[in-house]
Amino acid sequence: MITAYFNGKFLPKDEIKISPEDRGFMFADGIYEVVRWYKGFFYDMESHLSRMKRSMKELNIVWAEEDSFPTIAGDLININGLRQKHALVYIQITRGVAPRTHDFPSPAVTPTVYAHANSFMPNTSQIINGIGVLLKKEIRWSRCDIKSLALLPNTLNFHEAVENGFQECIFIRDGLITEGSHSNIFFVIDGTLFTHPESNNILSGVTRKNILRIAREAGITVEEVAVSESMIENINEAFVTNTGDEVTPVVKMGKYVVGNGHPGPLTISIWEKFQNETDTLKG
Ligand code: PDD
Repeated sequence: MITAYFNGKFLPKDEIKISPEDRGFMFADGIYEVVRWYKGFFYDMESHLSRMKRSMKELNIVWAEEDSFPTIAGDLININGLRQKHALVYIQITRGVAPRTHDFPSPAVTPTVYAHANSFMPNTSQIINGIGVLLKKEIRWSRCDIKSLALLPNTLNFHEAVENGFQECIFIRDGLITEGSHSNIFFVIDGTLFTHPESNNILSGVTRKNILRIAREAGITVEEVAVSESMIENINEAFVTNTGDEVTPVVKMGKYVVGNGHPGPLTISIWEKFQNETDTLKG
């Protein structure tokens, strides 16, 4: 039996009932967060918590117990017997239950908070061999910095990628490569590591932030500058990052083969440094 968290209680997941008038259900009016458990610790919980708070603030959702997320996440790991495993904890907070009108309920209602934990392993074959990404014109809104529940453009384009034999979809906005449907993207061009700067057009990934730190600590030249679509043929290496899959090499972008079609040396070295960091934190 899987135990999940729902509005202050730990309950069998199958017994949780969410109102059809929940604004998350009606309007995708809410935010979410995903944090990774490494057999004993959460990786950079602090950054996930602060991004969760920021997303809520941007949507004007107030959850009075927001600081309890790390405790809830730890309890979900323990209750579900995941302490010695790799796992992901998912939390979503919606504006709450109210009759359907476009305006926010006034006075505000209590937000709906749901969280669960699942055991998880990154896809090692994708990490070893690299993935192909579909390139798509950006159809998302202009607040991609908010980790909003409204992910239809992401899921539609990711599905199209999968249907066409790719493993991620990468968005291009006004000729610039932004990010993936559920990842940030990095490029190596002539030894320099590039990634899109923080802006409304990307999610400020926790993995992105840590990879930038790890790369800088290793003396790698880093430019938080967007790479344009017209530069694709000059890209020597590419990789995507997210909480679950950490660092995954990209060896094909649309019809273009990246580098020699295999994960590049800088990508592998950054992946290794990330593994060293999580191994060290595990103690
Ligand atoms: N997605 N960009 C987008 C659009 C994302 O959805 C994600 C993560 C990232 C990477 O962020 P982070 O490194 O903090 O995981 C970038 C999560 C994993 C998801 O939707 O499941």
